[in-house]
Amino acid sequence: MSQGSFVPPSSAKPFVDVLSGQRQTVPPVWMMRQAGRYLPEYREVRANAGGFLDLCFTPELAAEVTLQPIRRFGFDAAIIFSDILVIPYALGRSVRFEVGEGPRLEPLDDPDKVRTLSPRADFGKLEPVFEALRIVRRALDPKTALIGFCGAPWTVATYMVAGHGTPDQAPARMMAYRHPEAFAKIIDTLVENSIDYLLGQLAAGADALQIFDTWAGVLPPAEFARWSVEPTRRIVEGVRAKAPNARIIGFPRGAGALLPGYVEATGVNAVSIDWTAEPAFIRERVQSRVAVQGNLDPLVLITGGDALNRAVDEVLANFAMGRLIFNLGHGIQPETPIAHVEQMLKRVRG
Ligand code: CP3
Repeated sequence: MSQGSFVPPSSAKPFVDVLSGQRQTVPPVWMMRQAGRYLPEYREVRANAGGFLDLCFTPELAAEVTLQPIRRFGFDAAIIFSDILVIPYALGRSVRFEVGEGPRLEPLDDPDKVRTLSPRADFGKLEPVFEALRIVRRALDPKTALIGFCGAPWTVATYMVAGHGTPDQAPARMMAYRHPEAFAKIIDTLVENSIDYLLGQLAAGADALQIFDTWAGVLPPAEFARWSVEPTRRIVEGVRAKAPNARIIGFPRGAGALLPGYVEATGVNAVSIDWTAEPAFIRERVQSRVAVQGNLDPLVLITGGDALNRAVDEVLANFAMGRLIFNLGHGIQPETPIAHVEQMLKRVRG
């Protein structure tokens, strides 16, 4: 898929323009997990919504929490409020979110269980996400972009196999070594359904898509190529087969030295980088080819003060000469003071 075949006109959305190849003097800015528990207005909606999935699947409420950080901070992009685990849910797996414990799924940890996996998601279950996107699209200022997303198959599979979050993703890594065919069936199912899910989000009004591979960094290079890069490449190819100009951001967290290969193989328009990335390496090997998004340490955003100013200046000095979308290197933490987000924005925008 050739990305350089035409230069799109300016879209009036700085975020979209960076993804289309046009560096902005002031980098567009948003934050991963920008709708969430650090905001009192989120906690209030969340407390009255029932469970976390009820919040995700009630279009008016999902739209409302998506818009909260835009109203408060005027970010350049909104990200639809949902979760990467809505795909296993639509595949008919049981998915629950326990307060203070994170997600709980029925483990899919042996080949016999994998044989029961439905090949096709019930997209009717995801219709509320599409409806929330349409509501947000109508409410957003034309200069603010709307981001749709999914989890990368590898990261979603780590939760499906283990049934919960794990520190080292050992259950999924073990299954990939012991039962590669059964594991490949999980991955293939996620690839195919993620393509249709992302296309549905584009049709509902998303300007760009992000593929979250939070646990990419635990894999040895050959496994990374097989379970992270190749499935992501297939998703990008499948989406672009029907939406040739789809703008896609990859986030293979912790990929480090494997990032240039990821960019080359997958065809993403941008990569989100975490705070451990080495700046000169990223400039020369990654930002020379695609836009870069990142990479403030969420812990320095909790810290605030001079440390925060210095860290923001460093991200700008490292990457703002090229195509940059200012962001955190991972999601904002619930204990982050709102004043520090305001301080960060002021520093970025000048
Ligand atoms: O960025 C945004 O504002 C959009 C919303 C969003 C959520 N999850 C909402 C959420 C996005 C983009 C995600 C992605 C997601 N979900 C990832 C990949 C990105 C990342 O942060 O690594 C992963 C691994 C998940 C799975 C997941 N969802 C976990 C492990 C947890 C529990 C941990 C936690 O933070 O509580 C969730 C729950 C979740 N997803 C919350 C939010 C706001 C917190 C739940 C609550 O409000 O009670």
